[in-house]
Order: sequence, then C-alpha cells, then structure tokens
Amino acid sequence: MTLPTLAGTLMSGTVAAQTSPAFVNTLMPEPAHLTEGAGWLPIRPGFAVATDKFHDQRLDHTIARAMQQLTQQTGVVIREAPAGSKAALIISVDGPGEPVQGVDENESYSLDVTPQGAHLHAATDVGAMRGFATLLQLVQVSGQGYYLPTVSIQDAPRFPWRGLMIDCSRHFEPVNVIKRTLDGMAAVKMNVFHWHLTDDQGFRIESKVFPLLTQDGSNGLFYKQEQAREVVAYARARGIRVVPEFDIPGHATSWIVGYPDLASAKGPFTIERHFGVFNPVLDPTRESTYQFLDQFIGEMATIFPDAYMHIGGDENNGVEWAHNPRIQAFMREHGLKGTAALQAYFNQQLLRILDKHGKKMIGWDEIMTPGLPKDVVVQSWRGFDSLATGTREGYTGILSAGYYLDHMDSAADHYRVDPLPAGNKLTPAQAARILGGEACMWGEYVDAKNIDSRVWPRTAAIAERLWSPQSVNNIDDMYRRLWAESLRLEALGLTQISQENASLRALAGTDQIAPLQTLATVLEPVNFATRAEWSDAHHVTTLMPLDRLVDALAPDPPSRHDFEELVSTYLQNPVAHPEQQAALEAIFRSWTADQPERVLLMAESPQLAETLPRARQLTEMGTMGLEAVGFLSSGVPAPPAWKAAKLAILDEADQPIALTRFTVVQAMRNLINEVK
Ligand code: ACM
Repeated sequence: MTLPTLAGTLMSGTVAAQTSPAFVNTLMPEPAHLTEGAGWLPIRPGFAVATDKFHDQRLDHTIARAMQQLTQQTGVVIREAPAGSKAALIISVDGPGEPVQGVDENESYSLDVTPQGAHLHAATDVGAMRGFATLLQLVQVSGQGYYLPTVSIQDAPRFPWRGLMIDCSRHFEPVNVIKRTLDGMAAVKMNVFHWHLTDDQGFRIESKVFPLLTQDGSNGLFYKQEQAREVVAYARARGIRVVPEFDIPGHATSWIVGYPDLASAKGPFTIERHFGVFNPVLDPTRESTYQFLDQFIGEMATIFPDAYMHIGGDENNGVEWAHNPRIQAFMREHGLKGTAALQAYFNQQLLRILDKHGKKMIGWDEIMTPGLPKDVVVQSWRGFDSLATGTREGYTGILSAGYYLDHMDSAADHYRVDPLPAGNKLTPAQAARILGGEACMWGEYVDAKNIDSRVWPRTAAIAERLWSPQSVNNIDDMYRRLWAESLRLEALGLTQISQENASLRALAGTDQIAPLQTLATVLEPVNFATRAEWSDAHHVTTLMPLDRLVDALAPDPPSRHDFEELVSTYLQNPVAHPEQQAALEAIFRSWTADQPERVLLMAESPQLAETLPRARQLTEMGTMGLEAVGFLSSGVPAPPAWKAAKLAILDEADQPIALTRFTVVQAMRNLINEVK
C-alpha cells in the first residue's frame, strides 16, 4: 500500500485538482464559526495586501511571511501595497497585543472573503497571525487557478493554553528542528512551546554563572544563550510563548555531575544514560542549594521573558532523602513527615525565588502539595481526575495525560481526550481554571531525524481539540483534514512524511525501495510500554543510535484509519460496493506483489533483517484479503475452517516484531469475520 494506491484513492477528493471550484474545507483547527457564501476571490497576478489601521514591525513581518507562503502555494507573486492603499486583502489590526504574550492574549480574529476582496480583522498582532493561518489553509485550487472561497469566519480559541512540550534532554534537538516545530505549531494555532531543557540525561541550556552545568552535564550538546534568545524571538514572531522547564528536585542528575554539592548523596556523579526514574535529587536542606537556584533562575529569567517558569517536580522517588541521616534530621527538626512534605518545603523555597525574579510557577501534578499558593499552574500527566481535584482545591491547570506523543497512540485517541470532558462535574468557576493542554514529546526514542514524524501530524489533532468548539469531534472528518494539513506542514519544511522514505533508502542502501515502502506504510512503532520494556531488558542507552526500521516508521500512518474506513464502507454491503471492492483488491494485490524483491532487500540489511517475518505476514494478509473479498462480493461461503485459519494468522501478525506492529490487523479481522 504505497501512497499512490491507498492514500491516492482516498485523498483524491480532498486535495487533488478539480476542474470547477468547490469549497473543500480542510481547515485545521476548525474555526468557531464559519458561514459559506457564493462566489470566489481569485488569487492572480496583481493580488495585493495592505493594512488599513495599526501596524508595527511584528505585524509587517507576519504579513510578509504569510504572503511569501501564499506565493509559494500559488505561484502568484503577492504585492504588498503601502498602508492605507486599496488591495484585494485588507488587514485591520487594532493594536500590538501584550509586550510579553500571556495567557490573556487576545487571539480572536474575523476573516471575510467576498468576490470583491478579503478582510482580516483582529484586535492584536497575534489574532492576525491566527487569521493568516486560516487564510493559508483556505486556499482552493482548480485547473484554472487558485481561489479563496466566499466565507465569513469569526474565530477565537476554546482554551488559552495550547502547548507542545519537547524534551531536549534525553535526545538533543538542534535549533533548526525547534524552529521548524514552531512553524508547525503556528500553522495549527498552538501558542505555548514548553522547552524541557534539563533532565537526568543532559543539561541543555548554557549558564554563564554555572558553566559546569553544560560543561560536565551535556556532552557538548546544549543551547547557547543567544540561541535560546533567538528561539524566544522566533516564537514571539509567531505568537508563541516559550515556557522553559528546569526539572527539579528529581530528574536532576545532569545538574550534579558538575556541581555535586547540590546532591543529596555523595558523588561523584555521571550523566545518566538509561531511561526511567533515578535516585539523584537535589538537597533541599542546604541554604547553598537555594543560593545556587536563586542565581540560576535569575540568569534564566533574563533569557525567558514568559511569566511562567516550569520547575518539573515529577517523579522524585525520595530514596536519597530517606537514606541521608542529615536530611532525616532536618525533616525531624522542621516537623516534615515524609519525603512529600520535604518536597513541599522545597517548593515553598523555590516559590520565593521565582517570585523574586518575577516568575510564576508551573509544575507537574506532584507539586500540588499542601500550602502551595493557588496561582501555581499544575500540568497534569496523571489524568483528568488529578486535574479536576486540583481545580476543586483552587489550582489552575492544564492537561497532558492523553496527549503523550511518545505513547504512539493514534491521532483519534488523542482527539477524544478533552481537558473538559462532557459530563465532568466541575462548577463553572472550577472549569474556568482549566486553561488548556499540552502535547508532550518525551525524548527517549526520538532524535533530530525522526522527531517530526512523532510530533506531526498527530499534534494538529490535539491543536484542534484545544482550539475548536467541543462539538467539532467527527473522527473521519478530522483524519480527512489531518492528511491535508500534513501536506501543508511538509511544505513549511517539516519532514514527517518524507523522512520515512529517506530512512528506508538509507537502511536498504538503494533508492529502489518500492517493495519496502509497501510494507512500511502498514507498519508503525509499538506503544511506549512495549518499547520501554524491551529497552530495559536490552539496557538501551541514549548513546545508541535510533536507526532501526521502527525509528523510521511514522506512528498512526494513513493506512490505519483510511483502511478501516474503506473496509467498513465495503462491509456495509459487499455485493453493492464495486468501487470499494476494487480499491481493496488493489491494496491486497500490492501486498502480495514484489514479495521476493522485498525479502531480498530486507535480508541484505542487518537492521531490516530483524523485521523479515513481516514480509511473509504482509503477503499472507494480501492473499487472505483477496480471498475474503472474493467470498464476500460473490456471496459464496468460505470452506470450513478457512476463517479460523485466517484469524490465527492475524493473531500472529498482531504480535510485535522488532518493535513494529501492523496498522491493518483490526480492519483485516473485521473483514475476515464477515465471511460466511
Ligand atoms: C512525567 O511524565 N514524568 C511528567
């Protein structure tokens, strides 16, 4: 099932050229209100854009960037006319927005398109950015040219905090990766980049005050301060806040390699290479720890202007605190019963320091300890119930449970998770304390090469959940628009589609990879738990390359949902669906074709050979699929025991091999089960 067969068949109505204009809505996220009218505004030479109200440098740059994208999309050079001129596209912005973008930033906009012209209105530069993102997604194509449809859009986000966290500690992500990620976030109207900069496996931000943090804790892979400032500016230009995370007191091994006096146990320490929860933890009993943190946070506050600083706070196992007699004595002296109480004490000291430097605290669920003021934001990785408990106690929160991209769940799974699920028992005041959510890209099994395919396009589905009205929840329609958005994201410079084939070429050592592509399009990585278990058993470390087939494969590729949809439509009435029958037969034939070539390619590559049984299984599924369609479309029953034998083959195919799993097994079961 290469793109020309399955995806080509199913996507032709979505993005391919059409002979007469018909508005195909591929907006993602869907706007709050959209009314469609009659007629079209052509985008052709002479098309100009002008502001008629406020403009500043940020807005000018936003317009220039959007028009450059529009030019690339259409081949039509868009003219930027002087402010106040007549133009096909008029931009009316009331003012600049907040000097440091905050949770209260006004991101609303309206966009009115008629055959005579288009008008984008926003209260702030940031609202204009959101409007441009919509405008670029609205562009339609026919054989004759490019058009904007006649629409009236009034739009504003459902939640003010729509974030993406990237863990750059376990694997470092270069600045160019971060920048293209920010481009993708802006395209789907996300507004918080949560930068997980420190963890056991690496300290990734330069401190001039404490140079040993990166000298001893990063293997030379870290962001210089000017690079971090560049990222902050790049993000601001796109209406995105940058919230840095310095994860303490646990997950802090990389701090103490260079500064062992911060530790709760005796050194020396080395950078952690494995994954999991480890004992090293900062010493919360010494004044010197707080003097250090005061200076460090003060320094970081000069780089990161956001009101919030993330202090982590998660997964401190308390082991070193419990085993250190000096720390135990401190706890007795201060009446601190248990290590959770000691962490609460630590948070109180930290809060003072953050406050001194003008920062508000955000941390993971574990920071919700008695005595913490209610204006901290709790990021819930433990689930809605934990978040709801927090809001009942008066805390503000965001949801990340259900949005863990490293779990390798489907876009649909993430899409169904709502920060305010239907039927929640929160009062309006409690519900208002839920600010939104963040997708989380933990870095155990991602590197600069494959991160795009782990983040995109699934994050676009989460972005829609956080921006669009709750009533926008049709999974099939989400996927239809998601594939369209994925193509647009690649045009922006992201690599989530192209990387797979590039990696397959590298693995196979040839550009003749078609037989391999057919297999790769129906495989995806196993879930996080399966991979973590395997990694523990095999002592996997950060130093090992991510260069196996599993690392090249995209999670939740089009094959899963689109194949399920095709099978489901076909099964509604197999004898009366010749189009679906033909599409299925074409797919099954592609699975059985080129089998000897596929086996040869895989057998000759050490990294691919471990996945070899998948080639046989693909052929078996193709063969049984053709047989099943033959029985179903003709109404002829299968021989006795046929069904049981095929279901047994599917059970075998459903087992992980070399950390890969098939995307099509469930739909194949549905198909086989319908055979009489
Ligand atoms: C976390 O997943 N430990 C925040």
